[in-house]
Amino acid sequence: MKLLLCISGASGVVYGERLLRVLSEMEDVVVDLVISNAAEQMIELELDVDKEELSSLAHNEFKPDEMDAPPASGSSLYDGVIVIPCSVSTLSKIATGVADNLITRSSAVALKEGRKLILVPRETPLSKIHLENMVAISEAGGIVLPACPAFYGDPQDIMDLVDFVVGKLLDCLGLEHGVYKRWD
Ligand SMILES: Cc1cc2nc3c(=O)[nH]c(=O)nc-3n(C[C@H](O)[C@H](O)[C@H](O)COP(=O)(O)O)c2cc1C
Repeated sequence: MKLLLCISGASGVVYGERLLRVLSEMEDVVVDLVISNAAEQMIELELDVDKEELSSLAHNEFKPDEMDAPPASGSSLYDGVIVIPCSVSTLSKIATGVADNLITRSSAVALKEGRKLILVPRETPLSKIHLENMVAISEAGGIVLPACPAFYGDPQDIMDLVDFVVGKLLDCLGLEHGVYKRWD
């Protein structure tokens, strides 16, 4: 499976970091990376690791303004595009067809090619505009997977909460994992 993992500038870049670590350890998964300019600031603010360490976990990294990079074209065969976390700005652009950087363009490509697109918004509260844009993504075939961890698995720390969201996303991709405790 070949995936494009995009990190945008919402709070919760730890979700993107954790997903990248899990995917990079999976056999038969190739993961390419795009980090938005706003996300670079979030990484400095919220993570103990620097951007270079994240970049080293990916197969290829592309800059957000690299509009001629492979993921910008439908002829480049990615199985899925993930934006985690997804700012409501990026989500709204994707919902309205704006393709002004590599993250929004790759997402538009995934939708037009009928490939998997998973957006993980982190914002609260949500305006009518945000909600309508989420409906538009869903109607266009994308998956909106809000960063909403569940608490029934007796989480012991923040990483258990992060892993719940990451695990649900891996479920959507059909990848086997033991990242979160399932209801039994
Ligand atoms: C400290 C801080 C926290 C932010 N948190 C969020 C957030 O949780 N969700 C969100 O959608 N935007 C958030 N933003 C706003 C985005 O960073 C901003 O809309 C940015 O332009 C998004 O750019 P990008 O989507 O290209 O990464 C935050 C901004 C700052 C400075």
